[in-house]
Amino acid sequence: MSIVTLARFQFAMTTIFHFFFVPFTIGTALAVAIMELCYVKTNNEEYKKLTKFWGNIMLLSFAVGVVTGIIQEFQFGMNWSDYSRFVGDIFGAPLAVEALLAFFMESTFLGLWMFTWDKVGKKLHATFIWLVVAGSMLSAMWILAANSFMQHPVGYTIRHGRAEMTDFLALITNSQFFYEYGHVITGAITMGGIIVAGLAAFRLLKKDKLSATTTNLYKKSVRLGLVISLIGSISVMGIGDLQMKALLNDQPMKFAAMEGDYKDSGDPAAWTVVAWANEAKHEEVFGVKIPYMLSILSYGKPSGSVKGMDTVNKELTAKYGKRNYYPMVNTLFYSFRLMAAFGVLMFLVSALGLFFTRKKNPILYEKKWMLWIMGLTTFAPFLANTFGWMITEFGRYPWTVYGLFTIQQSVSPNVSVTSLLISNTVYFLLFTSLAVTMIGLVVRELKKGPEYEEEQLRAVTNASVDPFDKGAF
Ligand code: HEM
Repeated sequence: MSIVTLARFQFAMTTIFHFFFVPFTIGTALAVAIMELCYVKTNNEEYKKLTKFWGNIMLLSFAVGVVTGIIQEFQFGMNWSDYSRFVGDIFGAPLAVEALLAFFMESTFLGLWMFTWDKVGKKLHATFIWLVVAGSMLSAMWILAANSFMQHPVGYTIRHGRAEMTDFLALITNSQFFYEYGHVITGAITMGGIIVAGLAAFRLLKKDKLSATTTNLYKKSVRLGLVISLIGSISVMGIGDLQMKALLNDQPMKFAAMEGDYKDSGDPAAWTVVAWANEAKHEEVFGVKIPYMLSILSYGKPSGSVKGMDTVNKELTAKYGKRNYYPMVNTLFYSFRLMAAFGVLMFLVSALGLFFTRKKNPILYEKKWMLWIMGLTTFAPFLANTFGWMITEFGRYPWTVYGLFTIQQSVSPNVSVTSLLISNTVYFLLFTSLAVTMIGLVVRELKKGPEYEEEQLRAVTNASVDPFDKGAF
């Protein structure tokens, strides 16, 4: 295996694993903030229990997210030093602001939130968690501003072989950033809602063994989670549609590969539902098409043509010189369809879930198969996010910074196959053990349930606090 392939594999593995926890934390933090707001507004103790319970699960994700985020940063220095040199002047500012302001804000208020239950006023305590949400969303903003530059470079000049920033405002008003940020945040909101509803549904499968209060708390979680994921899933799909249209102009090769079209579509353009490409020969092996559909999806009307990869390849060759501009077509094609399909699934589960849990006739709680579907949907946002990043990052091939710097140019000159094999193995083992630990801890929290903390408190209050009573001396 080549150095570039191993370095890319490592970056993909680290990013995918890290990004399981980023939207998990942002999304569940928002859900927890909403629960605490409900507590402040209604004074209903049930919301306090829910806030604490889902807050514990959010904290687990935050911890693993920080650990994996640090490993993610190591990647740049370890395997991609020439790339770091090239974009250092651009990335320095947003990443520094992210670490110094947004992440500090997020972690400071998270600490305050954790340790000030019943020590400060309710409203102030709820303000802390809302500031955590704001901090986590600001943090994502700076990272995605940097990533958007890689997809669509703006506000720079090339000097001494490096990209130097000339316009900070251009960086944060990048059109790509607008879509990417919106899509990622609404995806995170969807994930938060689905996690709360899905995990609660899993617990409701065992409701015979749960107390009436705990069952009721899980039912409340399902409803609240579904409202959040309904809003999130509609928004993520809406912004995804805009993002798709923007790609037509900004990265036509990525667009054509996602649609599996080697040849120009003709007018009107048909949409390919399933297909397989022979990537070596640059041709479609088979494809099932729906007439007019691609014109409608691309331009919102039943007319208009779309360029195929062969045409885009000629244009890119004329502009940037001769090299292979074809990305991994089958991967992009199916990643796109799976991401969108999981989006539709989450929307349907949210809408139907809310319908089947309505006060009049909440049959969802009685039907095990429905609870199973809702529970299993918990995995959907993780997969949708992973497929999303695969499209975004594999699709800008052969560039790391679109049109400016290639993947081949980016890799560290002094890294070897052996060192990459070792670091890949170490990271793989580390991520596997972190994943197992994380799953184990979440399952333990779920088994304890939202009443656990209160039960413990009651036990401590009822027990004598005098050590002499226990015969300690
Ligand atoms: C109909 C539904 C959807 C459409 C049309 C859509 C569209 C897109 C497109 C076109 C991209 C590539 C953007 C680029 O490279 O510039 C993308 C990326 C991405 N998608 Fe989706 N998407 C949909 C659903 C979802 C869902 C449900 C999630 C997760 C909950 C999701 C998460 C992501 C992520 C994390 C990325 C990578 C970051 C980015 O470029 O925004 N997408 N999506």
